Amino acid sequence: MRKTPELIVALDVGDLESAAKLVEQLYPTVTLFKVGLQLFTAEGPRAAQAVQARGGRVFLDLKLHDIPNTVAGAVREAARLGVEMCTLHASGGRAMLQTAAQAAAEAGSPIQLLAVTVLTSLDARGLEEIIESKLDVAAHVVRLASLAREAGLNGVVASPQEIGLLRTALGPSVSLVIPGIRPVWAATGDQRRIMTPREAAVAGADYLVIGRPITAAADPLKATRRILDELRATA
Ligand code: C5P
Repeated sequence: MRKTPELIVALDVGDLESAAKLVEQLYPTVTLFKVGLQLFTAEGPRAAQAVQARGGRVFLDLKLHDIPNTVAGAVREAARLGVEMCTLHASGGRAMLQTAAQAAAEAGSPIQLLAVTVLTSLDARGLEEIIESKLDVAAHVVRLASLAREAGLNGVVASPQEIGLLRTALGPSVSLVIPGIRPVWAATGDQRRIMTPREAAVAGADYLVIGRPITAAADPLKATRRILDELRATA
C-alpha cells in the first residue's frame, strides 16, 4: 500500500494571533505547519514558537540563498529553534548546500533541509531572462535537485507536475514536498499548474503544502477533514 502524504498547512498570515488561531483550530488533525516569509518577517522566531507551544511542528520556509557561512548560520539557528524542515535555494550552489547540510548534521537535531529549484512562478522565458541562455526548465529543475541531493540535502520542494520527473531522477529516499494543490471544490486562486490532493498522492508526493483551500475556508477543520478523507481513499 502506498504511504499517504502528510499534510502541511501554510500559515500565510501576517500576525501571531491569526496563526495561533489556525493552529488551535487544526491541531491535532494537522500537526505540521508552514511558517513562511510573511509570518516570519512580521513575527520572527515567535511564530515558530507559537506553533510549537500548541503542539505543532514547523516547516520554516525562508528559501535561504546567501554565502555558505551565512546560510550555515541560519540553518544552525533554525535547528536551535527546533524546526523540522527548512528550505534553501539550490541555485546557491554546491558549497552553500554542502555547508548547510554540514551545519544541520552538526546541530544534532533532525532538521530536514529542502531545496527549492526553479520557482514555479518562472516559466522558460523568465528563466532565460535570468541566465541569458535557452534552457529546458524541466532539465534545469532536475539538475538543481540532483545537485542538492549530492550536497546532502534531504528533499525538494516541487510543483505537482515535477513529481514523476524528480522521483525517477532522485529515487525513493528523497522527500518531495508539493505545493500547488487544489481540491476540486476549492478556488484555484493564483495557482496555475495544480493537482488535486489525490492526484498528487498517486503521483508520489511525500508532503502536500496547502494554504488557502484550508485557511480561507469558512470552516478550516472541515476543509482539512475533507482533504484527508480524499487522501485516505487513495491509499
Ligand atoms: O494558498 P496556497 O495553497 O496556494 O499556498 C501554497 C503555499 O505554498 C504558499 O505558502 C506558497 O508560498 C507555497 N509555495 C507555492 N509554490 C511554490 C513554492 C511554495 O505555492 N513553488
